[in-house]
Amino acid sequence: MSVDASVREDPADQAGSVRTIRPLGRPLQGSIRVPGDKSLSHRAVLFGAMAEGTTRVSGVLDSQDVRSSVAAVTALGAKADLAVQPDGSLAGTVEGWGSAGPRQPDGPIDCGNSGTTARLLMGVIAPWDVEVTLTGDSSLQSRPMRRITAPLMKMGAEFFPAGREHLPLTERGCASLAPLHYESPMASAQLKSAILLAGIYAHGETSVVEPAPSRNHTELMLPQFGVPTMAGEREAAVTGPATPRACALDVPGDPSSAAFLVCAALLKPESAVEITDVSLNPTRIGFVRTLERMGADVSVSVVKHVGKEPVGTITARFTARLRGCEVPASKIASIVDEIPVLSLVAAHAAGITVFRQVGELRVKETDRLRAVIEGLALMGVDAWEEGDDLFIEGQPGLHPPAGLSFDTGGDHRLAMTWALAGLCGNEPVSVRDFGCVSVSYPGFINDIERLAS
Ligand code: S3P
Repeated sequence: MSVDASVREDPADQAGSVRTIRPLGRPLQGSIRVPGDKSLSHRAVLFGAMAEGTTRVSGVLDSQDVRSSVAAVTALGAKADLAVQPDGSLAGTVEGWGSAGPRQPDGPIDCGNSGTTARLLMGVIAPWDVEVTLTGDSSLQSRPMRRITAPLMKMGAEFFPAGREHLPLTERGCASLAPLHYESPMASAQLKSAILLAGIYAHGETSVVEPAPSRNHTELMLPQFGVPTMAGEREAAVTGPATPRACALDVPGDPSSAAFLVCAALLKPESAVEITDVSLNPTRIGFVRTLERMGADVSVSVVKHVGKEPVGTITARFTARLRGCEVPASKIASIVDEIPVLSLVAAHAAGITVFRQVGELRVKETDRLRAVIEGLALMGVDAWEEGDDLFIEGQPGLHPPAGLSFDTGGDHRLAMTWALAGLCGNEPVSVRDFGCVSVSYPGFINDIERLAS
């Protein structure tokens, strides 16, 4: 696979460039598949690299973030032979390092914009006798890492400079990791996964208990690699030492990408869409539950299971009367990536929507809490924070005024959120750095225009 080839949909979308997004001429209609799930794609690549033997993968998302994981495991000695398929996905093989362990890379590993790559890699590297420097782009270099390094240090890994919060960080692994029982201060799948991945090689049980359920893909996928896990609602565990063994994986569609098409259909009159072959893992479709509570005409139906992951169809129809709702702190992890686009929907709903305890949004690819409040303010919508809670006062019948210009700050989910304000409204909007959608959904505009053609 050539990791140098661009995954940008439109080469005109260079960093810093401004894209004009025009209102859709027609409603969204019909059925579509979205690209492979980003979380599952990262895990397929990383776990395949850790495994003994050659893992076959298909449906893998071809995006900048996943390419960061492919490049990282290649630098560590795995052999990824992945090719772009006619549907735009990646398929092929990952030959893992297995019990020989990763090789000492020649230089620092650049994780780009990908928090999942950097944080899960810290757990992957922890049990081995290597010294690896991890870095990333300016956004990733500003994101907190001590939440991962602190528990891994309890297990025996070392990080330099000691106590540093941000990348670049150098990790020195430890061949005799101690197992850990960790009461996590936050619901974070990246944190939970890093600990469990290290725990595979520790002697005894390693477990993580969370204050609320986070996405559970790691504990559901590891058994496919022959690593037994316990996957509870707020607790996950692995018993080591074990060696992951190669398997075959097919990655279903990404519900976080589907969320943009669903919300577009809800906001654009006369729309009705169906998204097929998408992951319906309950830890990922909190946005459907939130939209249902807002009165949206949206539903899911599970068609099959791929491994332990439920997969099926999401349908959504334009809904003229949406109402605000309150989302409790316990549900935030299940919508954490969808809060920007749900906020846009809330801006069109009657009454006030409250998202409780969303402080974590401040440390995503950008400060999404501030960005949502500022972006909605541009549209004339009152949104504010009280402590860590986000409030949005909706305006039924809202149409963003002409001449709006949004800055994404290079954040893919903000780029798609503000694009929807233009696509589903009556006036074009400008979106700076729109090309960052290549981080998770390079074909976003193509897909939405196809549904509206
Ligand atoms: C991810 C976990 C989430 C999410 C991120 C992907 C993962 O972060 O925001 O986009 O693949 O594990 P948390 O670590 O906050 O759960």
